Amino acid sequence: MQPCPRQDRPWWSDAVCYQVYIRSFADSNADGVGDLAGIISRLGYLELLGVDALWITPCYRSPMADHGYDVADPRDIDPLFGDLAVFDALVAAAHQHGLRLIIDLVPNHTSDQHEWFQAALTAAPGSPERARYVFRHGQGDKGDLPPNNWPSQFGGPAWTRITEPDGQPGQWYLHLFAPQQPDLNWDNPEVRADLEKTLRFWLDRGVDGFRIDVAHGIAKPPGLPSYAPNEFGPFDDRSRRRDIRFDCDRVHDVHRMIRSVVNKYNDRVLVGEIWVTDDERFSRYLRPDELHLGFNFRLTKAGFDADEIRAAIEHSMDAVKAVGAMPTWTLSNHDVERPVSRFGGGELGTRRARALALVELALPGVIFIYNGEELGLPSVELPDDALRDPMWERSGHTHRGRDAHRVPVPWEGGAPNYGFTEAASAWLPMPADWAGLTVEAQLEDADSTLSLFRHALEIRGTHPGFTGERLEWYGAPKGCFAYRRPGTTLVCALNASSDPVPLPPGEVLITSGPLTTDGLLPADTAVWLA
Ligand code: NOJ
Repeated sequence: MQPCPRQDRPWWSDAVCYQVYIRSFADSNADGVGDLAGIISRLGYLELLGVDALWITPCYRSPMADHGYDVADPRDIDPLFGDLAVFDALVAAAHQHGLRLIIDLVPNHTSDQHEWFQAALTAAPGSPERARYVFRHGQGDKGDLPPNNWPSQFGGPAWTRITEPDGQPGQWYLHLFAPQQPDLNWDNPEVRADLEKTLRFWLDRGVDGFRIDVAHGIAKPPGLPSYAPNEFGPFDDRSRRRDIRFDCDRVHDVHRMIRSVVNKYNDRVLVGEIWVTDDERFSRYLRPDELHLGFNFRLTKAGFDADEIRAAIEHSMDAVKAVGAMPTWTLSNHDVERPVSRFGGGELGTRRARALALVELALPGVIFIYNGEELGLPSVELPDDALRDPMWERSGHTHRGRDAHRVPVPWEGGAPNYGFTEAASAWLPMPADWAGLTVEAQLEDADSTLSLFRHALEIRGTHPGFTGERLEWYGAPKGCFAYRRPGTTLVCALNASSDPVPLPPGEVLITSGPLTTDGLLPADTAVWLA
């Protein structure tokens, strides 16, 4: 495929998107939790950082059992985060700052407090109210065994038994996540019609796109078959071969429906959360009548190893080539460990995270940066009594969950809250030693991780080498790699070995850390040259 000039391609084809985990970004009303007005107050920062768009996590009405991924009303804003007027103000303000706004869409499940689910609880088995969800009778003489053996992603079984209106133990409902997140029945036309309504509601308010939660899990396999014995490992083992709960062929009908609604609006983008590792199956989500983009999580899993990182990049490129889509790149999000910690923490982890960031930011396609990644924040070891993720309770305190990666952004000043909130404490405690990691401190330091991101994004946005959709690999010493954007002189090289190596030819544009005194590329360092 011929690279086409930037202006002829959709805005998102090489965009840099910034993920705002709302609870942890900026608190405007001193309740310790980030909110929409907080985001508005920090848009100037995002413009300065040099991103093109933001993706905000769910802000719909929610009891917050899974911090907003349990939606009680998909067409209203939760008072914790603001209201519809503040939402409209955010859309307008983002656009004034030249930023597009992508919002999260949660079609797989609702909250158990959604009026539909409440109605289902008081209705009879087999009723239209129950048919919007996945209710089944239990197994065994008394129906007291779950309908199948599926686990929930947060630990424990994926089924909860309800008490019927007559006070007797009754049917079971499916929840792939927490019991407060009942799965919807996507064979039900009412469910589809309601999502169409939700899509139009937000599109009409001016959002630029949707990030689709659990895009690979919305449709369930016919008959809801049990896993074969030993088919799955511990509940957080994502390496299991093929998980029958996810990636069912019928899911593509849902995405076609969503696309057909979005196609009626100009310039809107759909990006799916797709935890599917088979390249060909991944590509199916990005066929021309489905989603525009899919999160490919391979780089969140790769170790700091040249071969592993290169393989992750090649797979991600291959997975989109056949369907003519653009790849996406993500090093972290609110569900996975932050790169600094994943690569060993401290100075070593920071050096490696910075190097991988440069490798990522030179790639063709769409970049997602998770709030705090540009500050080099680590994941944080929190005390047991601070943990809020439902995984902690559901796993019987065997899995600490994702709170470590969700600690609020430090903006300025000192402990305890670094300008994130004026409340006595933030919803998750912030470490006492983050004064050097604040936005304020890093803006003043030319060697900071924030300065590295700003500089790299500026080059990415202005240098003519950032063009086209492909890359070519160069010969490189063992433990290293180098790639070029074809048709240009732009080269990105990574040294993941333990010894300094000579630089590829070219003029150095940026490095993730200082070169050696004799001009070599040190271990754990990346460079761009042209
Ligand atoms: C994926 C989201 O990223 C995660 O935070 C959430 O818990 C699950 N989907 C369930 O909605």
